[in-house]
Amino acid sequence: MALYSEKVMDHFLHPRNVGVIEDADGVGEVGNAKCGDIMKMYLKIDNDIITDVKFETFGCGSAIASSSMATELIKGKPVAQARELTNKAVAEALDGLPDYKMHCSVLAEEAIHSALEDYESKKK
Ligand code: FES
Repeated sequence: MALYSEKVMDHFLHPRNVGVIEDADGVGEVGNAKCGDIMKMYLKIDNDIITDVKFETFGCGSAIASSSMATELIKGKPVAQARELTNKAVAEALDGLPDYKMHCSVLAEEAIHSALEDYESKKK
């Protein structure tokens, strides 16, 4: 069996929503101390709907595929739904990740949650 699913390879080779949103409503940056990988997420939010999302990931292929899939999962969705996004859902949407690569999907979950916290704190 191939180590990575076709979906992982597709999102790694052709990541969706790469880039920066200059006037983002929420920005989150997280890293994994062990592997040194870093992920940054930018959210544009209008009326509690995520109208745009972009990411920059300095990390492994699974982290890039996870961030790409995570952005696709929350784009156009209400903030409340994005808050519920788990790394498990990201990995499942990618048709799985090897066990020792699950932490890469955790980065995507954390980056989105961190960007949402930034958005909430700015709203106050
Ligand atoms: Fe660190 Fe994948 S090896 S995020």
